[in-house]
Amino acid sequence: MGDRSAAAITLTVDGAVHRFSLPADTPLLAVLRNDLSRNGPKYGCGLGECGACTVLVDGIPARACVIPLGGVDGRSITTLEGLGNAAAPHPVQQAFIDAQAAQCGYCLNGMIMSTVALLARNPDPSDAQIRSALAGNLCRCGTHLEIIAAVRRAAVLIRAGTATTSPAAGATGTPPIA
Ligand code: FES
Ligand code: FES
Repeated sequence: MGDRSAAAITLTVDGAVHRFSLPADTPLLAVLRNDLSRNGPKYGCGLGECGACTVLVDGIPARACVIPLGGVDGRSITTLEGLGNAAAPHPVQQAFIDAQAAQCGYCLNGMIMSTVALLARNPDPSDAQIRSALAGNLCRCGTHLEIIAAVRRAAVLIRAGTATTSPAAGATGTPPIA
């Protein structure tokens, strides 16, 4: 058995600083969903294999189901809810709506978060680069063509500056900790 005693851990989530006293091996996904009401990240496989739980850790896509809370102490987490909201969607969210890139929608959190990270480092990806960036995100409904179309549209929206581009747009909270 590992050490299950509580540890003091500080996270910035969608721009707001949160302090926890929890066992360091508590999965980040459990804290986001149960303690912070972030329901964008989904529990799929719980094994780091499907991508449904993807969040950005300091801008890098990561699997919240297998990340222990202690592993992200002091880090900045961005969730789907931190990108935007219904009134002011992030352009990637808007593009997925425009492309109707969902059937059940369970994979979309991971698809959108991975797309945000892709377009931050490559504003004009090829289809091959899109497929590669999303290869770790599984869609059981087979909406892959619509998802790729949504990523292409998101790239156009961002390059055109026609929608909000920064994570945490529409979200409120204190600035990230240093
Ligand atoms: S639920 Fe985390 S990768 Fe599947
Ligand atoms: S839309 Fe159902 S898993 Fe992708």
